[in-house]
Amino acid sequence: MFRVICTKDYDGVSDVAFEVMKPYLKEGSVLGLATGSSPIGLYKRMIKDHTENGTSYKGIYTFNLDEYVGLPLEHSESYYTFMHKQLFDHIDIPEDHIHIPSGLGDLAKNAKDYDEAMEKMVVDIQVLGIGSDGHIGFNEPDTPFSQTTHVTELTEQTRTDNARFFDPLGEEVPHEAITMGPANIMKAKNILLVANGKNKAQAIHDMIKGPISEKCPASILQKHPSVTVVVDTEAASLLEPEDYEVR
Ligand code: F6R
Repeated sequence: MFRVICTKDYDGVSDVAFEVMKPYLKEGSVLGLATGSSPIGLYKRMIKDHTENGTSYKGIYTFNLDEYVGLPLEHSESYYTFMHKQLFDHIDIPEDHIHIPSGLGDLAKNAKDYDEAMEKMVVDIQVLGIGSDGHIGFNEPDTPFSQTTHVTELTEQTRTDNARFFDPLGEEVPHEAITMGPANIMKAKNILLVANGKNKAQAIHDMIKGPISEKCPASILQKHPSVTVVVDTEAASLLEPEDYEVR
């Protein structure tokens, strides 16, 4: 079941996303987290709330969606570095409460270990962005919905979308990633998907109004009991006004 909230711009998306997240920022919560541009504003608000209101992360656990294969942890574009820079370095979460799949070494074992770690806890709220091709995590079109954590080849569209981070370094976008599968994502009790900008409009439309199909990985969320989608007017531009609440 989708609750779709449309706001004027990215700041609005981040404000509403933080409101949705706030009740889960408490002892014992398990947060599923995403990287990419979309949740940065949400993470800024979580840091501000920690600094100004003293909200503590000492009893909170996190599971990230994915990581590139082959990038050393300290690489500026690894998702390990991204999460530390954008969130973890600025809050009081213990390092051993943080889970990020490892894209180094024995990948099949890493995937199995990640699934096992996830089986011991239930994610209370999973933050998601969405790819312009409808991917969630790095589950590209045609990933079986039953898939758990696995290694995946990134599509050319995703590699082009992410080139903005690697071009300035004179490096290529990695070809592979390790990612939670749709089956892991669907086990979260609640989903919070954030998206902004015109290049997300088709994916948002297909996720909400298209058929449930592995061609659009995000369409599996139509079967989830609790999904909040927060979008700006551009990302909502292919929806009908009756599809969303305006904030
Ligand atoms: C990131 C992830 C991806 C991104 C998606 C959108 O951990 O799993 O699915 O959420 O590629 O990326 P942005 O937000 O950069 O447009």
